[in-house]
Amino acid sequence: MTASTAAQAAYIVAALLFILSLAGLSRHETSRSGVVFGIAGMAIALAATIGLASRSIAATGIALLAVAMVIGAGIGLWRARRVEMTGMPELIAILHSFVGLAAVLVGWNGYLDVEARGSGQTEIAHDLLNIHHAEVFIGIFIGAVTFTGSIIAFLKLSARIKSSPLMLPGRNYLNIGALVAFVGLTTAFVASPNVGLLVAVTAVALALGLHLVASIGGGDMPVVVSMLNSYSGWAAAASGFLLDNNLLIVTGALVGSSGAYLSYIMCTAMNRSFLSVIAGGFGMEAAPSDDKEYGEYREIKAEDTAELLRGATSVVITPGYGMAVAQAQYPVADLTRRLRERGVEVRFGIHPVAGRLPGHMNVLLAEAKVPYDIVLEMDEINDDLAATTVVLVIGANDTVNPAAAEDPSSPIAGMPVLRVWEAENVVVFKRSMNTGYAGVQNPLFFRENSQMLFGDAKERVEDILKVL
Ligand code: TAP
Repeated sequence: MTASTAAQAAYIVAALLFILSLAGLSRHETSRSGVVFGIAGMAIALAATIGLASRSIAATGIALLAVAMVIGAGIGLWRARRVEMTGMPELIAILHSFVGLAAVLVGWNGYLDVEARGSGQTEIAHDLLNIHHAEVFIGIFIGAVTFTGSIIAFLKLSARIKSSPLMLPGRNYLNIGALVAFVGLTTAFVASPNVGLLVAVTAVALALGLHLVASIGGGDMPVVVSMLNSYSGWAAAASGFLLDNNLLIVTGALVGSSGAYLSYIMCTAMNRSFLSVIAGGFGMEAAPSDDKEYGEYREIKAEDTAELLRGATSVVITPGYGMAVAQAQYPVADLTRRLRERGVEVRFGIHPVAGRLPGHMNVLLAEAKVPYDIVLEMDEINDDLAATTVVLVIGANDTVNPAAAEDPSSPIAGMPVLRVWEAENVVVFKRSMNTGYAGVQNPLFFRENSQMLFGDAKERVEDILKVL
């Protein structure tokens, strides 16, 4: 067996492991084995690729490769150990930007390599050269869009820039114009390749990525992250064609299609049009300035909340990002246990985008050993909220905002929300009257059946436990 056949065989095994990994990751119970399959697949892929490369590159090249891998792996391990669950989306976003940048560099290299060898000496047959030119261009384009788009997503998610959408005049035409320019430049490049056109397409794609993500508002960011995940997959697949690496093509396609599917599922859950989100907020109107009068809000103390809970027959807890920040899941689990021991029916209502990444709340509650069977999805609990004595909104805001259901001019209009305001009493745990992630005011706080319990969610739940 030649080294090349051995590498191809290893690639098939790695591709199968990646598919098993995706299958494993799709369920809580099997997610750990999914991660193990992924690690095994990647280890095999790396070993086979280095083995194959070692035949054609000098020892210094291999040494450089090893040094780069050690440095990269070191940084990766360090970041992964330190990152909080709440910081995962921004870490993922910045990692996607690396995939994009790598695809741009591979594309540039693909062209310069062919040029350097001169068309007579290239390994690529003349007929295939045009296809190669198109691959270079497409790889650079997708890579550059992913690169700048991911950087903007990172900056928005980490609150380094404002999360509200950028509203340039004629922004849809700017996006369409960039796509038309890409098609024109590709045609010109295939006909007569030159560095000038390569520079032009890189610049157009960098600007398009920047504009696409900048024009998407905060509430839609979860979809953007999974969409950039998808783009990074297609960028990797494009690099696979250029590098003639089947595994990269397969892996890129797996990442690209699963990311696209996840974006689609999220859009359906948030009642957003998939096309409008991926086209960079296409069709969305500018957010009106929020100068509405909402009235007065009422405050409640932990002692009175404990009284309210004592007299309740049914309690629903709707956690959000604030519960994760405060790490309040452990006292919340204790509170659940105590109330259930007293015969109170306690359930959780989980919004599909509560927190900062899909399944965020489910993971936290599972960590604190809250029984799975009382943790319900939004659609399973929404109709029961009207018959609930007390709803505890713990660090959630956008996901319980009645404006989404009742105010068509709201930037989050149409997004399905937990209808907590239908309950007899609502207690909102948060530190201030500040807005949530989408940056919009929440009329729930001013309703007659709502009361605010200010302070850190963990401390306030512990205060309630003391009284109980
Ligand atoms: P948010 O709307 O972000 O509201 C969280 C609330 O928690 C804030 O209003 C904040 O109010 C409060 N809070 C923060 N720290 C707290 C603490 N230590 N103790 C008590 N309260 C605290 O959260 P949500 O309802 O979970 O909605 C999620 C939002 O994130 C949606 O807009 C969603 O689109 C977006 N998003 C979701 C994802 C995914 S996939 N889940 C990814 C990216 C973005 P104070 O500052 O007043 O305390």
